[in-house]
Amino acid sequence: MIVIRKERTTDHNAVREITDFHLIEDLRKSRSFIPELSLVADCDNKVIGYLLFVEVDIGGYKELLLSHIAVHPDFQKQGIARLLINGAHDKARELGYHFAVANGEAVFFKKFGYVPAATYDIDQPVFEKKKGVYMAKYLNFTQLPIFGTPVYPDEYNITGTKSGDTKPAENKIREKNKINVSKEQDENVIKSVKVKMKEVKNMSSATPHNEAEFGMIAGTVIMPGDPLRAKYIAENFLSGAAQFNAVRNMFGYTGLYNGKRVSVMGSGMGMPSMGIYSYELYNNYDVDTIIRVGSAGGLLDDIDLRDVIIAQAACTDSNYVYQYDLPGNYAPIGDFDLICDAAEVARKEKKKVRVGNVVSTDIFYNKYPDVNKKWASMGVLCIEMETAALYMNAAAAQKKALSILTISDHLFKEGELSSKERETGFNDMIKITLELV
Ligand code: HPA
Repeated sequence: MIVIRKERTTDHNAVREITDFHLIEDLRKSRSFIPELSLVADCDNKVIGYLLFVEVDIGGYKELLLSHIAVHPDFQKQGIARLLINGAHDKARELGYHFAVANGEAVFFKKFGYVPAATYDIDQPVFEKKKGVYMAKYLNFTQLPIFGTPVYPDEYNITGTKSGDTKPAENKIREKNKINVSKEQDENVIKSVKVKMKEVKNMSSATPHNEAEFGMIAGTVIMPGDPLRAKYIAENFLSGAAQFNAVRNMFGYTGLYNGKRVSVMGSGMGMPSMGIYSYELYNNYDVDTIIRVGSAGGLLDDIDLRDVIIAQAACTDSNYVYQYDLPGNYAPIGDFDLICDAAEVARKEKKKVRVGNVVSTDIFYNKYPDVNKKWASMGVLCIEMETAALYMNAAAAQKKALSILTISDHLFKEGELSSKERETGFNDMIKITLELV
């Protein structure tokens, strides 16, 4: 089994075997060293990978530089670097850093959400020029004026050479850590990134509906329909939440839950609205998972107010699917792992939960309300207005989605929730959802 863990003193020899050690040894003693960000990939007690982020000064703020990333030759191309980098990013976010910079192959770093550093007005230090594309990743939301040229730790010995080294130390690491991308591929990317640099500078990830910059939104976004619910979740369940969107009052926030970074944003009502916001989150930001938390009207006799429904699949009367031009009917489904995890959490919390089919309708005020009995006759549990579009967008973007719904009313039974009951029901659903992050 491979685990990513903090480097120990006893790992030093193993680390020495896979990467440049002169500089690492100096950095370990320097003020720029952050023990939590000196990580090894440990495969059954053998060190097969190493990563080091050190502190650099950007515009007077302590931010991060990816100093070393190396994988043992026998274990390359197996996703070890990915595990190390993702693990380090999570830790770095927890520690409150806002940016990480790295000099290297754009193709590689783009996979981790890095963009040319110039996008954020972070300049490539002169000595790093020509060696690679200078990339930056937004880790935590900030309004601080973090830009300029990063100032590296003295240990980099940028102007001179280290004793025993024949080249400046930083040259050496770049060579050692070269990730296996063909030279031609690399140069093409560098060229295209350069051409685009100017465009990128003026172009942000922001869309007409979402003003967040790339990096401000977490990998998982919880979406209630009502943006004020998003605010409520941010204020009551997340720590250190910062707002990233207010366009059309469709509020969005990113904060921490149990130390994990998560975002929450309103979807609005209906599939066109959910369609827009979820499409942009999946395709313009590096969002991987969206979990809708909403309300629904019960359809079956044995569905009661306040029940929690996990939408395994979503039928629909909308035309949303026509855009895909499929040669038949499409079945929008939720992510299997998320469905299983949500059901498990709900059962542990002793909440009555049903997993099954729901229907997403375009029509709240149906001229013939009894039409919904037809859905009930097919075992569809409840009716709501967003899930099918969310599931289709997730499928088209090859991302993950789930809808968790609480029954707020019943189409064919008497009874209504009081506002207090609505709030408790909503809180129960949020607690289940946050456990999935
Ligand atoms: N129809 C559509 N969406 C809903 C309903 C409904 O009756 N109740 C809660 N969401």
